[in-house]
Amino acid sequence: MSEQWTPASWRSKKAIQMPNYPDPEALRAVEERLSVVPPLVSAGEARKLKTKLADVANGEAFLLQGGDCAESFAEFHPDNLRDTLRVLLQMAIVLTYGAAMPVVKVGRLAGQFAKPRSADTETIDGVELPSYRGDMVNGMDFTAEARIPDPERLVQGYNQSASTLNFLRALTQGGYADLHKVQRWNLGFVKDSDFGERYRDMSVRIQEALDFMGACGMTSQTTKQIRETSFFTSHEALLLNYEQSMTRVDSISGNWYDTSAHMLWIGERTRQLDGAHIEFLKGVGNPVGCKVGPTMGADELLELIDALNPENEAGRLTLITRMGADKIGDVLPGLIQAVEREGRKVIWSCDPMHSNTVSANGYKTRHVNAIMGEVKAFFQVHKSEGSHAGGVHFEMTGQDVTECVGGGQAIKEANLGDRYHTHCDPRLNATQALELAFLLAEQLKEERMAEQVRVAG
Ligand code: PEP
Ligand code: CO
Repeated sequence: MSEQWTPASWRSKKAIQMPNYPDPEALRAVEERLSVVPPLVSAGEARKLKTKLADVANGEAFLLQGGDCAESFAEFHPDNLRDTLRVLLQMAIVLTYGAAMPVVKVGRLAGQFAKPRSADTETIDGVELPSYRGDMVNGMDFTAEARIPDPERLVQGYNQSASTLNFLRALTQGGYADLHKVQRWNLGFVKDSDFGERYRDMSVRIQEALDFMGACGMTSQTTKQIRETSFFTSHEALLLNYEQSMTRVDSISGNWYDTSAHMLWIGERTRQLDGAHIEFLKGVGNPVGCKVGPTMGADELLELIDALNPENEAGRLTLITRMGADKIGDVLPGLIQAVEREGRKVIWSCDPMHSNTVSANGYKTRHVNAIMGEVKAFFQVHKSEGSHAGGVHFEMTGQDVTECVGGGQAIKEANLGDRYHTHCDPRLNATQALELAFLLAEQLKEERMAEQVRVAG
């Protein structure tokens, strides 16, 4: 950590992708209000996640990180939250059962409101306005007024995150995530798909295993692991005014923690070594992530690792690669070799979404084949390098949207307009997400079998 790190030291660095608030006084007042609100997560919880992520770094667990590209104020509804959680739980159970590996569940939820944009402005019919940067910054409507950054939106984002997190905690700890309910997590429209059927077969076998364990005395009443599950939150640490306001000293360790989420990550556009975003995340004790795009070189990556994880702590740093299905095979091996050579402990996670975005029929979309292709290549490269394919990072929703092309329902480019609801990037729908989970389970199972052969040999 740089000697003079403080929660405000990012302010002396170059901060890109941040809104230009027209009224700095109003922003300051909001920061002051937010600096005394109750933390959303505790430092102890962030440390618990780091411990679980250390297992991932050591090849003994898998990280499942997913949720909305951008949460929205308008779609804030318990059904949406429950359905997203339900699909994440389904995916986790497919992985845990199929690959016999513990799964660390982290949502892009309860704070994922701010978006970096490729262009500062957007032009429609000759009218140029500032880009929409997520509901925590400005409004999506294409009017001059909506696009003005409003600091009050930071407070609304905090409040929505608080209720979201409260609901998620209630569901994951109040019985909804009980393993006896696995069959009931199969959503209506998912149930009727091929993958829904595969899921149903699997849940029957899980039920049999639970019946057996119950007969041996391990029931929901006696065993917490059957009754509830741990679920963590994360978002891109983009709006540093907000993140700074949420950063507090932990009375137990004396360290600073960003209490807006358990895990924070830095996006591909804001990962400059001398920039404000790296400076901020350097000093907080949370587990952190950083996106790694196809232009990243080995030396730059090692410097980035030095900056974010100087003590080489397992579980502290997740490298979220987003190379594109056609580039990952060329770029990733060299980066893994450099990291292995230098003995750096990191988690390798694959974001198969952000470099596979294309336009079709006037919509931003992604082909399920490209997404699955990047995931398969990610596992292939790790297999060749003898490293652990540690996790995935993806954008999904529990709703039956038509935003990504292909998959079991064979969504066509011509159908994209049917139910295209995203506030930013195209998300996997529940069926496509389940399909991804089955692919991951297969790949992980292969990785485990190869590892067993290696150990035995
Ligand atoms: C995102 O995860 O929503 C995102 C913008 O990703 P990236 O920084 O990799 O482009
Ligand atoms: Co996105």
